[in-house]
Amino acid sequence: MNLEIVRAKDLKLKPKDETKLGFGRIFTDHMFSMQYKTGKGWYDAKIRPYENFSLSPACMVLHYSQTIFEGLKAYDTDAGINLFRPWDNFKRLNVSGKRMCIPEIDEKFALECLIELLGIEKDWVPKTEGTSLYIRPTIIATDPFLGVKEGDEYLFFIILTPVGAYYASGLEPVNIYVEDEYVRSVIGGTGFTKTGGNYAASLAAGKYAHDKGFSQVLWLDGVEKKYVEEVGSMNIFFKIRGELLTPPLMGSILPGITRDSVIKLSRDMFGVNVREERISIADIFEENASGGLEEVFGTGTAAVVSPVGGMTWEDKSIKVSGGKMGDLTAKLYDTLTGIQYGKIKDPFGWIKTL
Ligand code: COI
Repeated sequence: MNLEIVRAKDLKLKPKDETKLGFGRIFTDHMFSMQYKTGKGWYDAKIRPYENFSLSPACMVLHYSQTIFEGLKAYDTDAGINLFRPWDNFKRLNVSGKRMCIPEIDEKFALECLIELLGIEKDWVPKTEGTSLYIRPTIIATDPFLGVKEGDEYLFFIILTPVGAYYASGLEPVNIYVEDEYVRSVIGGTGFTKTGGNYAASLAAGKYAHDKGFSQVLWLDGVEKKYVEEVGSMNIFFKIRGELLTPPLMGSILPGITRDSVIKLSRDMFGVNVREERISIADIFEENASGGLEEVFGTGTAAVVSPVGGMTWEDKSIKVSGGKMGDLTAKLYDTLTGIQYGKIKDPFGWIKTL
């Protein structure tokens, strides 16, 4: 398929103070889009000026949420612009798409289009330490139709936003609330996909937690509300008596690319034993009481490696690592970002430099 390129006539001013980017508020001059129709396949691949879409109010995604998305980042380095495991994001987009009945995209072509888009938008990749250009590929069902069925028309688009830290508190350890009423997902549901509905379903619990002064919600399994699952914007890791524990990929949590990278770094670079096992929240609190819980951190593209300084479950609150970032958490953060920003050699073949 051909990729058409239409350049924006007027370019926006780039943010002057890159220390105040925040997350996901400013968008670049161009975006990628491609359309799909049953019987025709994907067509009309285009890089075009960033602009609003015109969609029917009956557009299917607005009613029944048939949508999937991804999140990855481009990093400014001395050697060029680095992408981190971008092929894995397009692969996961197709995994989400299969569950959500969204037609498969050509992963190789999508990556080529992204690289072309980044070539045009390279000056938007921020240079200040800790910043990056966040990339959001998304697919939505666009048929103007109110019956419940899978779409026959789709729009795939990629937008770009220069970002700083995901959490306003930066690398300060976050305080998380263990949700014991609502659940995020169950095995057999859509928990392993990046679909908008998973995030919409998390908002009530998130609002309750924020109102109580917590940054994030830690979800428990949807059946027994006993086993730890994930944070919603991050996978979760516990360092207990020298080992790392993280919930296994059983279908209800997101198969995070940062999660996978942190497991590999821990095992191959730091010789830390990592167990992907179900772990109950009661055991975590007991390990804390007996001095076994050493560190807790979350992982995600947006959140990178984020220390957890405290957890509240029912009427019990604990402090982790004295409320500070733990040593292994810091080492993982430094090494992962070192590889992403081209400061540490990449022994895993994760980086694509443009
Ligand atoms: C990401 O980490 O890229 C995500 O998609 C999480 C989102 C809540 C910002």
